[in-house]
Amino acid sequence: MLDVRDLSVDYGSIRAVRGISFHLAKGELVSLLGANGAGKSTTLKCIAGALKASSGSITLGGVAITSSSPEQVVRAGLATVPETRDVFPDLTVAENLMLGAYIHRRDRAGNRDNLERVHTLFPRLAERKHQAAGTLSGGEQQMLVIARALMSRPTVLLLDEPSLGLAPAIVDRIFEMIDTLKRTGLTIFLVEQNVNQALAIADRAYVLRLGKIVASGTADEIRSTTDLSAHYLGG
Ligand SMILES: Nc1ncnc2c1ncn2[C@@H]1O[C@H](COP(=O)(O)OP(=O)(O)OP(=O)(O)O)[C@@H](O)[C@H]1O
Ligand SMILES: [Mg+2]
Repeated sequence: MLDVRDLSVDYGSIRAVRGISFHLAKGELVSLLGANGAGKSTTLKCIAGALKASSGSITLGGVAITSSSPEQVVRAGLATVPETRDVFPDLTVAENLMLGAYIHRRDRAGNRDNLERVHTLFPRLAERKHQAAGTLSGGEQQMLVIARALMSRPTVLLLDEPSLGLAPAIVDRIFEMIDTLKRTGLTIFLVEQNVNQALAIADRAYVLRLGKIVASGTADEIRSTTDLSAHYLGG
């Protein structure tokens, strides 16, 4: 579904991602683990079209998206939830969701159906549809940005540290929700530092360290063969 080969990304003269290769099969939930500064967000931003690759290739369902713009990438079926978790604070929850459906703006009936599906997944957002998004709690804002990404009807969803900075009970709900999304058949790439919870729901994982993939395998293999705590994730 998503195939990344020999990808390198530079910030000026600094190489943040150093020739990494990985893939996601249809319906898989794959996690990218790594410490602060490992290059996780850089990788996601490059796939999303927000950063240019210095070398390498990215294909989505066999179609090259390496040099595509962010909008072209979304149209190709890939949605990204960045770590910044930005909502439009003065717009309502409903208005934020409709912005996620921008590429389908002429398909009103389709958007109505999809909104219903998203409301079923996130009943809390349905209850708060008229509330200004800036007044939602942190966990609710995280749900809103995920729900907004789903409004573009992606086949692949990239999530950048969705659990970051949230209370443990909310983190549990976010992981449950990601697991639910996987069961709908969505292909998911989950960037996380919350190793245990990510591996609990992931089929496979890759470990990124200083811009390179240093371990990969099934969640069980990663748990049993990789010193995740100290060496790669900084304790
Ligand atoms: N805009 C930028 N300009 C220059 N260097 C950058 C920029 N953004 C990130 N970097 C550098 O690239 C490297 C990878 O950063 P990146 O944000 O991808 O890491 P990360 O794995 O997402 O970390 P975190 O877990 O803290 O979010 C870091 O060394 C970082 O300092
Ligand atoms: Mg990051």
